[in-house]
Amino acid sequence: MSATILIIDDEPKMAGILKRVLTKQGYEVVTTSKPEQGLTILQSQPVQIILCDLKMPGMDGIEVLERAKQIQPQAEFIMMTAYATAQTAVESMKKGAYDYLIKPFPLDELKILLARVLKTKTLQEENVRLREALVDKFHFDNIIAESKLMQAVLARVAKVAPSDASVLLRGESGTGKEILAKAIHQASPRKDKPLVTVNCSAIPTTLLESEMFGHVKGAFTGAVETRKGLFQSADGGTIFLDEIGEVSPAVQVKLLRVLQDGKFQRVGDTVPITVDVRLITATNKNLEEAIQQGAFRQDLYYRLNVVPIYIPPLRERKEDILPLIEHFAKKFHRPGKTVTYAPETIDLFLAYDWPGNIRELENAVEHAVVMGESQQILPCDLPLALHTFYSKQELALSTPIHEQMTLADIEKRWIINALRKTNKNHTRAAKLLGITRRTLGYRLQKYVIDLDKI
Ligand SMILES: Nc1ncnc2c1ncn2[C@@H]1O[C@H](COP(=O)(O)OP(=O)(O)OP(=O)(O)O)[C@@H](O)[C@H]1O
Ligand SMILES: [Mg+2]
Repeated sequence: MSATILIIDDEPKMAGILKRVLTKQGYEVVTTSKPEQGLTILQSQPVQIILCDLKMPGMDGIEVLERAKQIQPQAEFIMMTAYATAQTAVESMKKGAYDYLIKPFPLDELKILLARVLKTKTLQEENVRLREALVDKFHFDNIIAESKLMQAVLARVAKVAPSDASVLLRGESGTGKEILAKAIHQASPRKDKPLVTVNCSAIPTTLLESEMFGHVKGAFTGAVETRKGLFQSADGGTIFLDEIGEVSPAVQVKLLRVLQDGKFQRVGDTVPITVDVRLITATNKNLEEAIQQGAFRQDLYYRLNVVPIYIPPLRERKEDILPLIEHFAKKFHRPGKTVTYAPETIDLFLAYDWPGNIRELENAVEHAVVMGESQQILPCDLPLALHTFYSKQELALSTPIHEQMTLADIEKRWIINALRKTNKNHTRAAKLLGITRRTLGYRLQKYVIDLDKI
């Protein structure tokens, strides 16, 4: 990194010596003996490091430091002083100086200090650049993350992406495991190399091994020619193994080896092939249970689970619902057809518990755009599951209380309401209703309330 150093010292001789030495070192050096002029220079050109004397007529080093920080806050400041007292040193450090030097100082000390400053700066700049690249990438990839929960997920993604660590993505179906796997790859140094996705549950067990690792001619019936596997296609890049819980013990052994030393063998071959692949896996299965049952290798699990990322279901991050609707509405927008959502449709979107998560919401929006008859989307324009949920909720809650209702009808409705609000937690529902848990139990029996239908 070539850097510009500004030297401010009222002794022109001192400034001259430093300039000569540092220019030889490859630095761009600007000197001045007047503090005011130093500040003018800062206003007109970028400087990485400022070397400034403490005692100068007109303006002292501390004031220069304060004003310099306002003009170029990222420029590192080194105070030089012949009168070092602990106090002035502490004061300048407090005001943001990087370090200080006591005159006269050996030139080697200065060189080492400058090298250290530049190293810190390079690292800082690298960090900023990476962070900016990530932010851009996420916008680019259109990941909606309005909720705190998703923000935390993205922060984890941003942290792990630049490394080679294996990531295990977990979450219910449709929560966005694949889109995040792509985001990790895109934000990694491997982004210009391939990202190969393998859906382990979609490929028959008997074929999965040869799909992943390739085979040689004659390895099995039907292997008419030698073929390279997906791992080899992903060399230098990332491989995303979706539904990792579905892989056979034979494939598990091979995966373990690839993770351990980057080597594998084609089916029917003995020659090891070496690859450099980063592994991202995903599952919505309980792998810990599979380990207990002996269906999944524990040693492999540890290797895959270096950085676990859990994506919460949509019902736990309802703040994401409206931004997602907007996002998908844009995606499925048809020229000439403007659609709006009726308030009850929005309420329904927010009340529904989305067992199919984002994918279900995406489908609902597409369905509405295609099937909606009027400009305004009504609950009846939505897929059946949502529509049914709406009708059930309507019957139980939204019909106004009318004179034909008995007290029991109304009581039943309130009980259902409380159970819904508390996610069917009996203790909390009873508390909400101001009755004991036991009384709630009696009422559920009395009114034959089917909990599964709530
Ligand atoms: N945060 C998000 N912002 C925008 N779109 C999203 C988001 N999360 C998921 N999606 C979209 O929702 C759909 C489902 O996501 P994805 O395929 O990544 O889920 P998944 O967890 O892999 O699901 P499955 O377990 O069923 O394979 C995709 O079309 C994806 O683009
Ligand atoms: Mg998926």
